[in-house]
Amino acid sequence: MWRLESADVIAHTDRMSSRHYSAVDHLLINFDQALRTLAGKPLTTERPDPADDREEADLTAAERDESARLMRVNHAGEVAAQALYQGQALTARLDAVRSSMENAAAEENDHLAWCEKRVRSLDSHVSYLNPLWYAGSFTIGALAGLAGDKWSLGFVAETEKQVIEHLDGHLKRVSERDRKSRAVIEQMKIDEAHHGAEARRAGGAALPGPVRGLMRLTSRVMTGSAYWF
Ligand SMILES: [Fe+2]
Ligand SMILES: [Fe+2]
Repeated sequence: MWRLESADVIAHTDRMSSRHYSAVDHLLINFDQALRTLAGKPLTTERPDPADDREEADLTAAERDESARLMRVNHAGEVAAQALYQGQALTARLDAVRSSMENAAAEENDHLAWCEKRVRSLDSHVSYLNPLWYAGSFTIGALAGLAGDKWSLGFVAETEKQVIEHLDGHLKRVSERDRKSRAVIEQMKIDEAHHGAEARRAGGAALPGPVRGLMRLTSRVMTGSAYWF
């Protein structure tokens, strides 16, 4: 336990100073972030949950079920987003944009917390496969980081573009009466558009077609499985 708390302190201190840490420190920080993401204790920006000031509707069983499944898919996507950012942070240089990347990662943690809360209030569970999504996305993020900053940022921009398309699809499927789920999805869309724009502005390059296609395929496997499990 001491080691995890210590990693947490290092992560916090790291944001407030320009200290450099050893490979072991980075390993502890990454391990701490992974546990926080998977155990539902993310470090958020502490913005209010957009669902909080919306009225809970008396949804039918089918509406509740569909909302819960889609919010579980969104939660799994945020687990993957968190792992991508952590993987990239491990290998990318990104010195010029490090603080905006950290801010984006904290906002992804807000999404993670909001989605989990909504899934649970709909009496459902988060995806059993989350550890798998985390491990896979962490690896992809680390590889994107190794490819160089312009590709790494391009990867963020393309990911956010695909996530927004995906959220638009969810808004068509979630009941109009489920104002709480819709409020969370709407705010996520705003944030993801901002993250994508930041990444492009910071020099993100357009990814080659086959890479974009592979990303779509990967996300289809993930969202398809998280819908059911
Ligand atoms: Fe997000
Ligand atoms: Fe994002």
